[in-house]
Amino acid sequence: MLGGYPPFSSRRNIHFFFSLFLLASLYCLVLLGVGGRLNFSSGRSSVSWNPGAIFFSSPVGNSSQVSERYKLDNVLRDAAMKDGTVILTTLNEAWAAPGSVIDLFLESFRIGDGTHRLLKHLVIVALDMKAFSRCISAHTHCFLLTTEGVDFSSEAYFMTSDYLKMMWRRIDFLRSVLEMGYNFVFTDADVMWFRDPFTQFFVDTDLQIACDNFLGDSEDIDNKPNGGFNYVRSNNRSIQFYKFWYSSRETFPGYHDQDVFNFIKYNPFITEIDLKIRFLDTQYFGGLCEPSKDLNRVCTMHVNCCFGLKSKLHDLRIILQDWKFYLSMPTTLKRSLIMSWSVPQNCSLDSLSQYGVPLNSTQ
Ligand SMILES: *[C@@H]1O[C@H](CO)[C@@H](O)[C@H](O)[C@H]1NC(C)=O
Ligand SMILES: *[C@@H]1O[C@H](CO)[C@@H](O)[C@H](O)[C@H]1NC(C)=O
Ligand SMILES: *[C@@H]1O[C@H](CO)[C@@H](O)[C@H](O)[C@H]1NC(C)=O
Repeated sequence: MLGGYPPFSSRRNIHFFFSLFLLASLYCLVLLGVGGRLNFSSGRSSVSWNPGAIFFSSPVGNSSQVSERYKLDNVLRDAAMKDGTVILTTLNEAWAAPGSVIDLFLESFRIGDGTHRLLKHLVIVALDMKAFSRCISAHTHCFLLTTEGVDFSSEAYFMTSDYLKMMWRRIDFLRSVLEMGYNFVFTDADVMWFRDPFTQFFVDTDLQIACDNFLGDSEDIDNKPNGGFNYVRSNNRSIQFYKFWYSSRETFPGYHDQDVFNFIKYNPFITEIDLKIRFLDTQYFGGLCEPSKDLNRVCTMHVNCCFGLKSKLHDLRIILQDWKFYLSMPTTLKRSLIMSWSVPQNCSLDSLSQYGVPLNSTQ
């Protein structure tokens, strides 16, 4: 269910403003360099964009009507499937460079089985201007989400304060997407998409989430979820849950969203609001923590349990190679041979301890 669209005439206005915004962005990127500073201010429920007088002076008039919120409306509407579902990922400068994570992510959709057509439903949520300009050159649906006073552009090392802010900003953003009436599949960009996950999702479920370790029963609340891949239907229950999750960061200061999810999943509030949660089997939605053992079943492959961008990129490339090799095999051989991944390689536990990260941490 989609709701809350402005009436047609104001939507035309928005298109108009949006086109101007794009022109202005390009102007800004080309002439002033991508480092050009725009002013952003964030509210509780939305991010408002204050373009300033440079680009929107007299010919346009009232520039404050151009809010980030409306732009998000446009982006989501253009990307949504018929049932109002979008695929969302977040991107910062460190992952946006050519040949970096985002390129491998997009490549997986192109070489996956039935995943290419899903690209038109993917929205890349850029966390800084460089990621945004890279998105514009590489993909159709881009949205710029920034937070005042925080620079998310560099590689946010696991559990630093910027990393935490980035993770929580994401939860708050996803809540606003749900409130706008859109269902979403949220995916980290280091999740490779090799088969259409919608064929494996549960029906009548509010929130389904991938796992670092899957205990064998999708309803077992003790499963260890990974926030890097989840499918959430927009309804009152999911919206209430995202509000609860976000506000719980104050109850558990210093923890990231995934840890807090693990704390609050036992909270009576969940049963109270009747939220239906399912955990996804690593056979289909695997990762380096627990890889799928059979490439005939794999939908997604997450480079979790990996620390450091170099190691991550190394193992991501191996994963794409493995998949291409699998695709090149004759069908009969594919069926009869049970083939798995040749990773982790550089994303081994050694590379974790080398950075002094607790071994049970995942990223
Ligand atoms: C711009 O438009 C908004 C809403 O239409 C209005 O509240 C605001 O006063 C206007 N600002 C200016 C400077 O005209
Ligand atoms: C969600 O809650 C609001 C107010 O609590 C209610 O008016 C609305 O009907 C509910 N929507 C659904 C789909 O349950
Ligand atoms: C991966 O690990 C190998 C062996 O330890 C090392 O030689 C190589 O430099 C590493 N590559 C990256 C990209 O980290």
